Amino acid sequence: MLLKLNNLIKFLNPYLEFINCHMVEFYTNNLWDKYIPKNIQNELTENGFEDAFNIIYKDKNYDKYPNLTVFLNEIKNIRENNSIIVSKDNFLKDEKPVDEDFKHFMSDKKIHEVNKMADLTYKLSKNKNIEYVVDIGDGKGYLSSYLSLKYKLNVLGIDSQSINTTGSSKRLQKLQKYWKGLTNDSIISNSYKQFTKYVTSSTNLIEILQNEFNQSNIDRFALVGLHTCGQLACDSLDLFVNDANCKFLCNVGCCYHLLKTFPMSDYVKNQNFNLDRNARMIASQSIDRTVNQQKINNQSLFYRGLFQVFLQNKYGLNLPEGQVGRKCSKHNNFIDYCRSALNNYQSINDSIIVENELNDLLNKYQENNDDLKLYLFYLIRMQFSSIIELLILTDRCMYLIENGFNQTYLIQLFNSVISPRHLAIISIK
Ligand SMILES: C[S@@+](CC[C@H](N)C(=O)[O-])C[C@H]1O[C@@H](n2cnc3c(N)ncnc32)[C@H](O)[C@@H]1O
Repeated sequence: MLLKLNNLIKFLNPYLEFINCHMVEFYTNNLWDKYIPKNIQNELTENGFEDAFNIIYKDKNYDKYPNLTVFLNEIKNIRENNSIIVSKDNFLKDEKPVDEDFKHFMSDKKIHEVNKMADLTYKLSKNKNIEYVVDIGDGKGYLSSYLSLKYKLNVLGIDSQSINTTGSSKRLQKLQKYWKGLTNDSIISNSYKQFTKYVTSSTNLIEILQNEFNQSNIDRFALVGLHTCGQLACDSLDLFVNDANCKFLCNVGCCYHLLKTFPMSDYVKNQNFNLDRNARMIASQSIDRTVNQQKINNQSLFYRGLFQVFLQNKYGLNLPEGQVGRKCSKHNNFIDYCRSALNNYQSINDSIIVENELNDLLNKYQENNDDLKLYLFYLIRMQFSSIIELLILTDRCMYLIENGFNQTYLIQLFNSVISPRHLAIISIK
């Protein structure tokens, strides 16, 4: 694992500026020239951009883009050769099919995730003689209620948002009624408790468990979390490490840009390696899903970059990323986009919009293929996502191993197209 971590860090180091850059500054800071290697720029200028997308989307080979091909293959190889990911089949041999009846309550994506994660949790629980499970950040309680109704585990779902915990109680009542009809189960399960609390690494989970289930003798439990966003994943690891009663951990994280603790392991800390928010944001994107959708033109990104040019030309203004707001992405036309973007700023009056000026700007950039340049840049940069995610999660596994938990695994639990955050960390005491 050390060697793999080391290789990932060594590979990423020269690209840190590239992966940390802000897409809104694509034109104003000339990011294409700054970060795309010259030999790749040259072959694209010579041979056009359109076919280059097919290398990424359709895995096609073209002799005319040898440098781009080498670059993309190198990224793929680095990921493959330094992966610690193991197949879920090591843990889920005779996987249960998706429970059709639950489909009335969950989206296809959620049922895919819940089915696999619950199955895995149940198997590990049986193995470790565990009857109590804490589902941290349980949201609407999909996983919790499934674990309690289908697998008869006692589940404590904790979420910081009371709207989630009360929402999940109502859902549970509906589900219980439905479940009773399906299974002829005369006993309505009382084995799922919802609790509202903002969890940190020092939350006393065993105390909450004992209180909620009114059982003072609970002395072993499992800690699971499905899409524990940002810091909650790191805190889950700490809770597992520091609580002797917690016998296994099964965690799928998300929203890496929101986390405060990276790196976690002493090994990576000692390399003085860090990833800024933007780079961690890339890890929260999904190259598999983007490629699957083959959505070439990310128009809102193009409009945002152009809007930055407009503001800079007209006012010498540089708006930081995240200031324009998502609602602008709904506009299909650049002029409406700019109007809506300016509406977010009290200080700028949208009467400054001169349609001809904006249309000239748009035409100039489209004629030069600057829109395609931006899309391709975005896709090339996104190729790093799986490497960055792998590094973040390998660092977490390393942290668990450094703390003495050698039975720590990173597994591919979900289908990455259905569920982009598809990797789970399992650690067993
Ligand atoms: C991405 S949602 C996942 C919800 C649910 N596990 C699911 O898969 O549908 C993350 C949830 O974690 C909760 N959350 C985030 N930080 C938390 C914290 N520190 N303590 C408790 N809940 C937290 C949020 O309120 C949210 O409901």
